[in-house]
Amino acid sequence: TVTQSEPTIKASMIVVSNRLPFVLKKDPKTGELSRCASAGGLVTAVAPVVIKGNGLWVGWPGIHSKEPLGEIPESDPSDQTPTAGLRSDQVVCVEANPTEFDSYYNGCCNGTFWPLFHSMPGRAAFSADDWRNYVKVNKLFAMKTIEALEKCHKRNTASQNVPIVWIHDYQLMLAANWVREAAEERNLPCQLAFFLHIPFPPWDIFRLFPWADEILQGILSCDMVGFHIRDYCLNFVDCCQRHLGCRVDRKNLLVEQNGRSVRVRPLPIGIPFDRFVDLARGAKKIFKTQQKIILGVDRLDYTKGLVNRLKAFEVLLEKHPEHREQVSLLQISVPSRTDVSEYQQLKEEMDQLVGRINGRFTTANWSPIRYIFGCVGQQELAAYYRDADVALVTPLRDGMNLVAKEFVACQINQPPGVLIVSPFAGAGEMMHEALLCNPYEIDEAAEVIHRALTMPEDERSLRMNRLRRREMECDVNFWMRSFLKAMGSIEEDDVGVTRM
Ligand code: G6P
Repeated sequence: TVTQSEPTIKASMIVVSNRLPFVLKKDPKTGELSRCASAGGLVTAVAPVVIKGNGLWVGWPGIHSKEPLGEIPESDPSDQTPTAGLRSDQVVCVEANPTEFDSYYNGCCNGTFWPLFHSMPGRAAFSADDWRNYVKVNKLFAMKTIEALEKCHKRNTASQNVPIVWIHDYQLMLAANWVREAAEERNLPCQLAFFLHIPFPPWDIFRLFPWADEILQGILSCDMVGFHIRDYCLNFVDCCQRHLGCRVDRKNLLVEQNGRSVRVRPLPIGIPFDRFVDLARGAKKIFKTQQKIILGVDRLDYTKGLVNRLKAFEVLLEKHPEHREQVSLLQISVPSRTDVSEYQQLKEEMDQLVGRINGRFTTANWSPIRYIFGCVGQQELAAYYRDADVALVTPLRDGMNLVAKEFVACQINQPPGVLIVSPFAGAGEMMHEALLCNPYEIDEAAEVIHRALTMPEDERSLRMNRLRRREMECDVNFWMRSFLKAMGSIEEDDVGVTRM
């Protein structure tokens, strides 16, 4: 097998993201703080680079507190996650005023940018107040980043290399503005990068945002800007040209801004492939049924196409009655952004729809839909991924979608299952051997599910082998390495491929 090892880095890295790679928990009795680590793929790849390069991580610790939080605790000795080695002096907590943070996070980030960037402007609210707080909180993150940069310069005086400041996602599109300004004023050299984890919309949609030019200028304060796929890069370049009048080079993906040339790069994120294989190997069998399982795993979010998915499954049972009592849909919906009304409404709609479809088809020995509304541990998830016959990844729009990748990593049994993916997810652009399914075409989606359920074993193996090989090679360490290459910050001889 060929796997990607962790890259080594020449410079120190400061990561800036809305959330820290762990959540702080406060004991209600003693007031003592402890860390609750995140298991996400991004953290897996980025944390080791921050740790090894003696860098820092700037972000929100996931709680609000009346008094300043004070000392960040070290990680628990039993913590085996990638952030365990992140010392408390490598963490800079952003503590915002709770009302302002609510307006920034629930209002502007999740009430405006999230729907707009997923090309759903009808769901977006445009509020001057939320925008004011978005600017304010971004400024706060920028000031904290400058503090981190100062520390980084002091600590690594011997280093010949300029630190990389890497800002993440739609919550922080303005921050680079003030980081660049203050870094220049205080003579703190750095390389600035931004990565967007969600789609970048076409100009027609982007221009609806009243303060669109400020967003573009914020992102263009960086030296390098990354998106998952080339289409998002081209949308961004197009917006810079049409909205700001920048000179652009579409072929080489460059944008000229204030005499600087900003590099725009497609950097499709991967998953920690080996970790999922190990989890799948170690997981106990959970399903105690002979029935086939179709699996869906998503945050409960309207971009994920969950309503359309349930309707397609209903049509399948209607038009192909041979699947009744033979097939179940296991839908895991992870609660998310529960303070935002769009998410509350979706929860209601899903509960009703599951009830209606189950009411219509359930028999004494079978229910068509099993619906889990809650969080599922990684090991349990790996067992579902491994033992499912079909995975349905059918978002209406999605930056990349890692569930599709995690499912194929866990397909270690023969004969393997079948992946169905939407062309409107970044993952659908690259996972060519999956069955494509337009979630808006409900009747057709039902036929695609039927095709997956009846696909011959050799075709399943052929498709899955190719899908797995790509994800194994282009894993999250490969992504990290591609980013560092794009920043010119990786040893040329660090080919980083381990052959076993
Ligand atoms: C998406 C975004 C992330 C975000 C995550 C969870 O993947 O790209 O930036 O952290 O959703 O959403 P939350 O609002 O809970 O952070």
